[in-house]
Amino acid sequence: MRAIQITELTGPAALKEVDVPEPEATHLLSPDGAVIIDVEAAGVSFPEVLQSRGEYQIKPNLPFIPGAEVAGVVRSAPEGSAHQPGDRVAAMCMLGGFAETTAAPDWLTFRLADDLDAAQGAGLVLNYHTAYFSLVTRGRLEAGETVLVHGAAGGVGTATLQVAKGLGAKTFAVVSDDAKEEVARRAGADEVFRSGGPWKDEVSAAGKVDMVVDPVGGDRMTDSLRSLKEGGRLVVVGFTAGSIPEVKVNRLLLNNVSVVGAGWGAYVLSKPALNAEIQREIDKLIASGHVRPIVGARLPLERATEALEIIDGRRAVGKVVLDVR
Ligand SMILES: NC(=O)c1ccc[n+]([C@@H]2O[C@H](COP(=O)([O-])OP(=O)(O)OC[C@H]3O[C@@H](n4cnc5c(N)ncnc54)[C@H](OP(=O)(O)O)[C@@H]3O)[C@@H](O)[C@H]2O)c1
Repeated sequence: MRAIQITELTGPAALKEVDVPEPEATHLLSPDGAVIIDVEAAGVSFPEVLQSRGEYQIKPNLPFIPGAEVAGVVRSAPEGSAHQPGDRVAAMCMLGGFAETTAAPDWLTFRLADDLDAAQGAGLVLNYHTAYFSLVTRGRLEAGETVLVHGAAGGVGTATLQVAKGLGAKTFAVVSDDAKEEVARRAGADEVFRSGGPWKDEVSAAGKVDMVVDPVGGDRMTDSLRSLKEGGRLVVVGFTAGSIPEVKVNRLLLNNVSVVGAGWGAYVLSKPALNAEIQREIDKLIASGHVRPIVGARLPLERATEALEIIDGRRAVGKVVLDVR
């Protein structure tokens, strides 16, 4: 099969197209059997950029096929699986997704709603499960609350805006430019602020927020805490800005606010029932029309390097997707 491998840890340019054997029906997270999927589209995200430099927490031996999530058609499923050959699915394979065929655990493989195409399916599991997990499981969002989303035109950002809106929240977005503002509005942002402008004062003037969801990190954390109402929660999701912020805990005490970590993978990977429950909630939001993954750049498999460079260069809007067949 055709696949893309990371062969050395020198960044996106070192990705290589290769011809390799198809995977066995087994997976590190489900050694007794896995779903074999003929991949139509593979999602590209920040971790693949980090992996290409050896900077991600999971460091497979070289060479390896990156690609955490895919959409495609089931070729085979393990005994007892609810999936049948021919089913359209979206799945987290964790690695191995930049390939014509991949293996995923049964419990991280989900039926793909008819309303979504393969490219949208490739942007569904990681971002929307993370969004729901961050907002609800960790952030305890309630309908009627106001949520501010940083990096709001990105993969996690657009998903978080859509899920928050679908759950009845008012949504604020922080983005860096006009094109990203347009995307954030398309994803359901009620108000959009510029990361380079006086967004903290503008958010205060707009009445502050109950929750901040932050996949960006860097130097905006203190202003995020200042933007919270009493009882507010800042949910830490990622650090695309490059630096990990530190918090002076007296700010939490003085304003009665919380900082909450949301590490989706670490939490849910040992909890198949929780994955199924989150997917059921997302399926409801697909049916109600709130969840529609926004696909930005869409490139053929062999242009994986460019796909990673778009994310690395801060040019990604919505989900970056590789068309595999
Ligand atoms: N905690 C979890 O369970 C979990 C799950 C999935 C992903 N994540 C993490 O969430 C983060 C966001 O992922 P994503 O897929 O949404 O990424 P993305 O699509 O590339 O979006 C990230 C956003 O970060 C902002 N940004 C600010 N400074 C940046 C910089 N120096 N370089 C690149 N982007 C910068 C950009 O928005 P502006 O230009 O508008 O500022 C960009 O749109 C990543 O760190 C990822 O690892 C965490």
